[in-house]
Amino acid sequence: MTLAKTKSVSLLGVDGYVVDVEAAITSGVPGLHLVGLPDTALSEARDRVRAAIYNSGEDWPNRHVTVSLFPASLPKKGSFYDLAIAIALLAAAEAVPPRSCAGLVVIGELGLDGRVRAVPGVLPAVLAAANAGCRTAVVPLANRAEAALVPDVEVIGTATLRGLLAILRDEAPPVEETDAEPDPPPAAHDGLAGRVPDRRAVLDLSDVRGQAEGRRALEISAAGGHHLYFAGPPGCGKTMLAERLPTLLPQLEPDAALEVTAIHSVAGTLPPGQPLITRPPFHAPHHTASAAALAGGGSGRVLKPGAVSLAHRGILFLDEAPEFRWGALDVLRQPLEEGEVRISRAEGTACFPARFTLVLAANPCPCAAATQMDCSCAPSARRKYQSRLSGPLLDRVDLKLELAPASRAELRYDLEFAEPSEVVAERVAAARERTLKRLSDTPWRTNSEIPGPEVRRAFTPSAAAMGAVDAALQNGSLSARGLDRVLRVAWTIADLADRDEPDADDIGGALALWMGRRS
Ligand SMILES: Nc1ncnc2c1ncn2[C@@H]1O[C@H](COP(=O)(O)OP(=O)(O)O)[C@@H](O)[C@H]1O
Ligand SMILES: [Mg+2]
Ligand SMILES: [Zn+2]
Repeated sequence: MTLAKTKSVSLLGVDGYVVDVEAAITSGVPGLHLVGLPDTALSEARDRVRAAIYNSGEDWPNRHVTVSLFPASLPKKGSFYDLAIAIALLAAAEAVPPRSCAGLVVIGELGLDGRVRAVPGVLPAVLAAANAGCRTAVVPLANRAEAALVPDVEVIGTATLRGLLAILRDEAPPVEETDAEPDPPPAAHDGLAGRVPDRRAVLDLSDVRGQAEGRRALEISAAGGHHLYFAGPPGCGKTMLAERLPTLLPQLEPDAALEVTAIHSVAGTLPPGQPLITRPPFHAPHHTASAAALAGGGSGRVLKPGAVSLAHRGILFLDEAPEFRWGALDVLRQPLEEGEVRISRAEGTACFPARFTLVLAANPCPCAAATQMDCSCAPSARRKYQSRLSGPLLDRVDLKLELAPASRAELRYDLEFAEPSEVVAERVAAARERTLKRLSDTPWRTNSEIPGPEVRRAFTPSAAAMGAVDAALQNGSLSARGLDRVLRVAWTIADLADRDEPDADDIGGALALWMGRRS
């Protein structure tokens, strides 16, 4: 009996587990037996591996071959393991030196012609392999750049099985490996789904005229990570403002960039060549999106992250929010509370990070008339439309603002007063710095992350400044949970003003934004 071993990775959500791939050749009826894969994946993998080995000019070992993937209990969906199975099998047949593949972690789908196809999730897979002590990873050439983001791992990118065999045999690479497919052109890699790639680069807050309150709310949201709701008639600039929120946010820290990139790797939305996502994502699902599209899951072979995870560490923008399907927005509750979504399937529970700033926009009524005078909706229809956003959802939104259209004078003459994103982003960065200093001994990084009990314990401003909220608590217009939210925003306003503690004005401003303010 000859034996050979290599490794691969099983992915559940963005969590990877190293899988041992072992091949044994024994006497017995010729054939390939795969152990440790679910039935359908098993027969598909067997067919692909066999065709790919033939078409790469290798001899098929005409013996009894068993390849086992261990532990069998780990979920093994998709075609992640083709290349590892082929390599282990050929090593057991001594077509390549068995020692050459023993320390490798091998990831890749095989085409029938022996081509190595890109697979989603290579970055989290290689991260997991690195954490388990693997030092060399073989990945599809098209996924090489994202795998190379993982520190301390040597990455071998291969376009064909033949090319990988040459490397393992210490031979010169075959010709087709040197003229492998050119990289496709870069796509949008900031999660701005369905938009032209470079559109974001040209968005700037100075495009928005007037709307001082709207701009201010964006600044507070950017500084503290507070959820935001814009109501107002069509054409008043709600979408325009929301789309410019990312321009106020700082770059992602290196660990956050890797975390975000791992999610987009599983989603299969990374551009080849320059895969690291360094800007906070902006994800704007259409209002026809299903609950599954928002939360993640899907019926494909690999669990896909949903909109809430594609927006992780960035913005989830729900434009025309009341138009979303009944119930679809309920899936936001878990990520808003816990910063992650869990998706249960027969093979286990996948967990995707989902910590985002929620931005909602809504017209006042379904007919989308520009003014209330033009509106043809019955008052009950207007009320019903506005109540489609559930109380529990709006309760989690710190900043609520009703926008009026910019006046004609503002649209014409406000050009030179409209601050550009760069200037506002500097104030946001300074405020975040201040927050960070105050929270340096805590796990939280922005004011919106501080848990309620902690806000009340350590971040209650002086009684003298609390007059407005005391009155609101007394007359019942503010709940205990609302109080926590108001105080968090008040701290952000104080941080933006470079004050040590919120004063009465900061708290009053925060309270007004919580209650819903008309501009
Ligand atoms: N304050 C503003 N400054 C500059 N342009 C504006 C402003 N408000 C609206 N517009 C113009 O109106 C268009 C519609 O704005 P939009 O943000 O889509 O409105 P809403 O989402 O509120 O319906 C924008 O593309 C822009 O051309
Ligand atoms: Mg709009
Ligand atoms: Zn109407």
